[in-house]
Amino acid sequence: MYSNLHIVVALTENRVIGTETNELPWHIPEDLKHFKKLTQNRTIIMGRKTLESFPNGPLPNRKHIVLSNQEKPAHYGDSVTFVNEEQLFAFLDASDPHIDLFVIGGGKIYELLYPYCNKKYITLVHMDIKEGVKFPYNVREIANKREHKTLYRSGIRRHNGIAYEFFELERISST
Ligand SMILES: NC(=O)c1ccc[n+]([C@@H]2O[C@H](COP(=O)([O-])OP(=O)(O)OC[C@H]3O[C@@H](n4cnc5c(N)ncnc54)[C@H](OP(=O)(O)O)[C@@H]3O)[C@@H](O)[C@H]2O)c1
Repeated sequence: MYSNLHIVVALTENRVIGTETNELPWHIPEDLKHFKKLTQNRTIIMGRKTLESFPNGPLPNRKHIVLSNQEKPAHYGDSVTFVNEEQLFAFLDASDPHIDLFVIGGGKIYELLYPYCNKKYITLVHMDIKEGVKFPYNVREIANKREHKTLYRSGIRRHNGIAYEFFELERISST
């Protein structure tokens, strides 16, 4: 585990995080603000498809570490670095444990890095979506297991008929 590595994810009860066409299935302004507040001026780690899902390109004021087996396309500027898996772990190993890093998706990257992450910033979206890209772990199980403590739970909020809540969990053992 890396104590400075944290996951940020919004997902439904049945773990849907996105559409097969690389989009978020909801629009929740407070969640976008929450994401921005957490990641502003930080380093964010993502899969290549998630980078491509940003409608206006790389996010301002953030350093992007992008997992890919491809070369970085020339149109991405200095705020974007493409790494393969070996380079990603070398980057994590060399990182300053006092500087937080945020894993922001999608499914493939969550699957790879979840076991190494400390805090989980989870937005649980109460929508019934059957199909899509899924978070590879069961969040209810994560919250119930003794290896995490709940640092924060917002309670239910609503936007345009969509109910959602924020959780913050922290790992309490390295298992
Ligand atoms: N709700 C949320 O919080 C949230 C957050 C982020 C994304 N999303 C959603 O998630 C979906 C995208 O997720 P996804 O799983 O399809 O894609 P992804 O994880 O964003 O990216 C997958 C890509 O990452 C690279 N990759 C993955 N594992 C690798 C490895 N071990 N070594 C080297 N490269 C590797 C590959 O890129 P190359 O093909 O270039 O090699 C692969 O095609 C979208 O629908 C998006 O909207 C939701």
